[in-house]
Parts: sequence; C-alpha cells; structure tokens
Amino acid sequence: MTQSISFDRAAGYYDATRGFPPGLEAQAAQLFVEAGGLSAQTRALEIGVGTGRIALPVSPYVGSYYGVDISSAMMAVLRSRQDGRAIRLLEGDALRLPFADASFDAVIAVHVLHLVADASAVLRELARVLRPGGLFLHGWNHHTGSPVGRVWEAAVEAQIDRNAHYIRLVTESGWRPHGGERAFTYPLRRTPREFLEGMRAKIWSSCWNLTDQQYEVGVRTTEAFVDARYDDLDAVIEMTGGFSVQAYLPPA
Ligand SMILES: C[S@@+](CC[C@H](N)C(=O)[O-])C[C@H]1O[C@@H](n2cnc3c(N)ncnc32)[C@H](O)[C@@H]1O
Repeated sequence: MTQSISFDRAAGYYDATRGFPPGLEAQAAQLFVEAGGLSAQTRALEIGVGTGRIALPVSPYVGSYYGVDISSAMMAVLRSRQDGRAIRLLEGDALRLPFADASFDAVIAVHVLHLVADASAVLRELARVLRPGGLFLHGWNHHTGSPVGRVWEAAVEAQIDRNAHYIRLVTESGWRPHGGERAFTYPLRRTPREFLEGMRAKIWSSCWNLTDQQYEVGVRTTEAFVDARYDDLDAVIEMTGGFSVQAYLPPA
C-alpha cells in the first residue's frame, strides 16, 4: 500500500457498525489490563485510536493514555464521548510517531496494521517508543459463520484471513509473544439485508480500494448468492463474534 487509509469517511457510522455489543467494552478492557499488566503507573499509547472503542474503556486503568490517528474526524467523535476521561489525542501518523524513544510502557493497536502504508515500519516505530520491558498489545475482532461475508470476500479477492496475516507479520518481525492469546466470544446475529446494505453503502474499508469493476463484480456475486440461498432477507444468520488480545515484547 502506498498510502495509509484514513477513516475520515467512516467517522459518522463507525461506532454503529463496528462497536462491541452493549456491555462487552468492559470485557475487552480486562483483556488489555491482564495481557499488559496495566496499572495506574502505566503510560500507554494507542495508534489508530479512532473513535475510542478501545481507548474509552481501557484508559481508566492506566496513568496516562495517548491516542494518535491520521483521521481528525474519527478523533472528533472520540472527543465528543470523552466526558472527562483524560485521553490525550494527537493527529499524526503511526509511521512517524511524535514521541521520544522509550516513552511508553505499553503500545496498543487494534485493526490498524492492515490500513497503514507500511506495517513493518510501524512495528519498528512501536519498538522505538516502547521502554525496555514494555509491551505491544495487539487486539483484533473475529467472527465465524458468515456465508454472505465469505462470498463477498472471495468475489473481491479480499485477503480472506487478514487477522492471521498480521499476527504472522508481528512474529515474523521478531516480536516475542508474552503470555498467551486472551479472548472472549459472544453470539452475533446478522441478516442478509444488513449485509447487502453495508456492502451497497461501502461501509467496510475492504470496499474502498476496489476498482469500480471489482466492486460491481462483488455486489453482483453477493446479491446472486443471497437471492439463491435466502427466501427471507431478514432471516437471522447465527454467528460467533470474538475479540482477542496478544501481548508481545519487542524484537531482542
Ligand atoms: C478500523 S479503525 C480502528 C479504530 C480503533 N482502533 C478500533 O479498534 O475501534 C482504524 C483507524 O486507524 C487510523 N489509521 C489508518 N492509518 C493510520 C496511520 N498511518 N497512523 C495513524 N492512524 C491510522 C484510521 O484513520 C482509523 O481511525
């Protein structure tokens, strides 16, 4: 990728489409607290902080929480929800973090590495700003059981297992897992109609870099699949959602 992908265009709908189901933010925060041994002494940085889906529930557990994003529109949503919580926000690029070496005890990234122009360079920046013994906390959502999503991804040749790709990149870059992956799962229900509407409105970043032709093929193939498979566009597809966090020490 030559340029990082800003979420400016998604700021207005991001929380409605990517947020945790009610109540699960607290569980997600616990994964970071446990994986990173976060405490009131911790100085934490989140790259690609967005609307604060992670920062808002995690920041109360640390001494200071910094968030960096290239999208001022996403951070404006976070500011509007901040209600007194001290999250220090900076517009900036994870490729060139505006912090001195060894500034943080923990750095956090959730669904950012696939959007940046050079994920390996970002990982080097994270190592630079971590103090010795500091941890990188990598988080990601996952879900299983979405036949419609699989048809769309195959039709547009999206990287089918993006999470696995970036987890591999982190370890291939020399980061050393610290403890095991921590995760929780939850029931997730979607309808074919919701999926089709999301695809037509291009709410996912996987839609943004497609040519018009690739996008049209994706839409036609997915619509044909839904037409053949579901009599009722509001039929509930039972899926399993999940969220995982893995801590890493920087390359030796
Ligand atoms: C999918 S959102 C994730 C937001 C948040 N981490 C979460 O999990 O809800 C990715 C965010 O990364 C930001 N981003 C993309 N490239 C970036 C870069 N090079 N430096 C900093 N932020 C970046 C986007 O603008 C967007 O707000």
